Amino acid sequence: MLKTVSEAIEYRRSVRKYLDIQLDEEKVKNCIKNATLAPNSSNMQLWEFYHVTDIETLKKLSKACFDQNAAKTAINMVVFVARRDKWKERAKYNLDFLEDMFDKQEKKGIDVERRRKVSRRYYKKLMPTIYTDFLGIVGYYKKLLSFFIGLFRPIYREVLFSDVRVITHKSVALAAENFMLSMAEIGYDTCPMEGSDTNRVKKILNLPRKAEITMIIGCGIRADNGVYSERFRVPFERVYKKI
Ligand SMILES: Cc1cc2nc3c(=O)[nH]c(=O)nc-3n(C[C@H](O)[C@H](O)[C@H](O)COP(=O)(O)O)c2cc1C
Repeated sequence: MLKTVSEAIEYRRSVRKYLDIQLDEEKVKNCIKNATLAPNSSNMQLWEFYHVTDIETLKKLSKACFDQNAAKTAINMVVFVARRDKWKERAKYNLDFLEDMFDKQEKKGIDVERRRKVSRRYYKKLMPTIYTDFLGIVGYYKKLLSFFIGLFRPIYREVLFSDVRVITHKSVALAAENFMLSMAEIGYDTCPMEGSDTNRVKKILNLPRKAEITMIIGCGIRADNGVYSERFRVPFERVYKKI
């Protein structure tokens, strides 16, 4: 029986020791497909998912994760990678999709002129404005501009190179949560890890310099002692603010 969303949220724990039982790779792949359905900034989908099943690569990755238990005993690993550098390609995918959709709607007699114009401006002008930078310098120019315009009206302020990195990683993290909950739904366990030597991870996966590792997720089926402690959260009243 599949779990409900709430049941999957309750079931998911960071599991650090896995049983020596193989996972159904197709099922894990389907959970990665669910990851791609996560909400993400401007639908740019600046991500890649490396599903590692090969034993030698798993060993190398474990070493790059400092051989922490969640890596050492993982049966599969999924590396969630932020690909800010792919913005041109992903913007084009979006625009091609939208143009095609508008063409079809136009044939049905729907007036799409305004939406077409807005979409073109969004993916041909706004996205390049956000994602183009040169050694971080353009970002400071954009920041200054947004500061002065922002004195008079609301303006988008996440324009620095570092802001764009955060934007990209946020979306990848949402995909990671989709993945972990999908795994929980079918009784598979996970542990997200940022404790790794990301340079080494990139080298193992043959990733280019500009790719960034958001997190590595160890996967398997929990051993009896795989969850280290009872779930702990700070009191809800400390974090819930009703306005
Ligand atoms: C971004 C991120 C990085 C994490 N890195 C590690 C890690 O390197 N090693 C580890 O054992 N757990 C890691 N965790 C797991 C957290 O320690 C865990 O989520 C937290 O203690 C809450 O426990 P729970 O996941 O069982 O609810 C990470 C979690 C997140 C979200």
